[in-house]
Amino acid sequence: MTVELDFAGKRVVVVGGTSGINRGIAEAFASHGAHVAVASRSIEKVENTVAALKAAGAAQAIGAAFDVRDADAVTDGLAAFHEQMGEFDVLISGAAGNFPALAAEMSANAFKTVIDIDLMGTIHVMKGAYPFLKRPGASIINISAPQAWIPYEGQSHVCAAKAGVDQITRTLSMEWGIEGIRINSVVPGFIEGTEGADRLAPEGPARKMVLDSIPLGRLGNLQDMAGTCLFLGSELSSYISGTVMVVDGALYQRGGGQFGQMMGDMLRSMPKRNKG
Ligand code: COA
Ligand code: NAP
Repeated sequence: MTVELDFAGKRVVVVGGTSGINRGIAEAFASHGAHVAVASRSIEKVENTVAALKAAGAAQAIGAAFDVRDADAVTDGLAAFHEQMGEFDVLISGAAGNFPALAAEMSANAFKTVIDIDLMGTIHVMKGAYPFLKRPGASIINISAPQAWIPYEGQSHVCAAKAGVDQITRTLSMEWGIEGIRINSVVPGFIEGTEGADRLAPEGPARKMVLDSIPLGRLGNLQDMAGTCLFLGSELSSYISGTVMVVDGALYQRGGGQFGQMMGDMLRSMPKRNKG
């Protein structure tokens, strides 16, 4: 079987698409000829990414700066994309914030910040895009995390937020599925060279412990994530909706194990923060 992915004429929006995993996904769609729009808070990161998307071969590359915590700004930003690009074939919602912190050491605002970015941000992006999604045929991909399934010490905020993201995926796959819109989550494992992996498992003993816990014996990379999203954005996956696709080298099968405990021990040994 020969499989050719051609996204010529397809419109792809990647929110949180200006660095790391999500930028890799945006660039992959661009290199397959799609029209691609990216958004994040920093206009400098947006402009830099738009230039890279053009260089990668995008039929059109546009961008906007907004914060996914601001529902009105998200709605306005996505409406502007629709005006410039037309209906969205693929929507990727991947903006996220993370820092390791014990629940007892976090202020209410610290916990809420991650809920607001990861969970509320996801629903703001999905609802903001809703009027502009191609019906039938649009594919929404929410970027989740292993924390949605695996409890890790020092990650209660992210665990709560990402579990919520996956439940939104499952619920809206029914509510919007009847309009021909597919919705799936993708769970990256530890992806090398990214902010998320560097924050949780910096080079050293933590990184080695993560590596040792991955049955496939390596961290994931940007191509692993981009390939999964190209598949979920294409007709190859036209009957897949409401799923949570785990792309982690089988990390999940071993659970959080010693790594989660090590993060808890490390945080407990650090000076306490003001709890606010
Ligand atoms: N431990 C405990 N609390 C922390 C913290 C830490 N390491 N880092 C931030 N906080 C708290 C802050 O103290 C603040 O709470 P307070 O108002 O009660 O003091 C709250 O979290 C918000 O922090 P702030 O820096 O104002 O938020 P921000 O909106 O500027 O940035 C973050 C959001 C904190 C998530 C920031 O790390 C970010 O922008 N991350 C995006 C990139 C990222 O996380 N990538 C990885 C994706 S997996
Ligand atoms: P990253 O490089 O920090 O990317 C985060 C992106 O989101 C950036 O484009 C950032 O740009 C944007 N962003 C952050 N806060 C935002 C906000 N409030 N509003 C709008 N945009 C915002 O992170 P990453 O490590 O590649 O992670 C990407 C996704 O994969 C996240 O959803 C993360 O939870 C998930 N994930 C990552 C890993 C990993 O190993 N890295 C593992 C599991 C899951 P600005 O700074 O310009 O806003």
